[in-house]
Amino acid sequence: MRMTERITKAVIPAAGLGTRFLPATKAMPKEMLPVVDKPAIQYVVEEAVGAGLTDVLMITGRNKNALENHFDRVAELEYTLEQKGDTAKLQKVNESTELAQMHYVRQGDPKGLGHAVLRAEMHVGDEPFAVLLGDDIIDERDVLLTRMLDEQVARDATIVALLEVDPDSIHLYGAAEVEETDDPDVVRITGLVEKPAKEVAPSNYAVIGRYVLKPGVFEVLHRTEPGKGGEIQLTDALMEMAGDVEGTGGVYGVVFRGRRYDTGDKLDYIKAVVQLAADRDDLGADLRAWLVEFAAGLERG
Ligand code: G1P
Repeated sequence: MRMTERITKAVIPAAGLGTRFLPATKAMPKEMLPVVDKPAIQYVVEEAVGAGLTDVLMITGRNKNALENHFDRVAELEYTLEQKGDTAKLQKVNESTELAQMHYVRQGDPKGLGHAVLRAEMHVGDEPFAVLLGDDIIDERDVLLTRMLDEQVARDATIVALLEVDPDSIHLYGAAEVEETDDPDVVRITGLVEKPAKEVAPSNYAVIGRYVLKPGVFEVLHRTEPGKGGEIQLTDALMEMAGDVEGTGGVYGVVFRGRRYDTGDKLDYIKAVVQLAADRDDLGADLRAWLVEFAAGLERG
């Protein structure tokens, strides 16, 4: 890729079954769970678009029709709101429709994140592209993806987002072994392990769900054997790329120090809703006042 060409494609894996949220996800994709009043997935698409990635490919599966519907027109509703002259609600309805150029492909067999990313090969072609995982929401006031895209172009390498986590949580993530660079926000990745036990984790740098990948990753994924959990792991493919700096340009991590919300498990999801609602102009003041009272009540027991 020439330095002047911009990355425009984002891939969002969304084929997971969402079993942690049963029964809510029995008939509805977990990506549609509302975070305040917007489905979690819309935050992620908005983040991609905000970074200039206007071509979005979602990797879906069975029971995911609601995702396609959410990013498409809904004529009856639009008509009704128009007749009523309710432009504020009409705008909310149209926001997700007009966001990006949406594309969909099904994963078929649920063989892991690496396998899901491989399903993007035809659509992506021979260009670098971003992968955004739906469980992570990055606060729109904090910069991450734009920085990663810039680093990808500048270094012609693979870029992942890293977050320093409590060592007790590292077993939930891909963990990175890193070397400093002369940029305090960027590290070179020398090793990666998918969900290691705390005792063997190379560091407490966790890979969070943002990647900017070179198209060479597809060739590596084709031959990546199932790893942790019997799944084809993106982490394992990236580990190989990290070791082959000559061939692939290596792998670098952009260290994120901003606000990130995890909607992937129940407790973190509840925290994300409360945190984001507490920051909202329309809800924040009332919610914060109530939270203080509620917390005081908890203290009193
Ligand atoms: C995936 C990746 C893992 C990464 C995590 C970030 O795991 O396999 O390396 O740290 O996303 O959220 P998952 O959470 O989908 O099990």
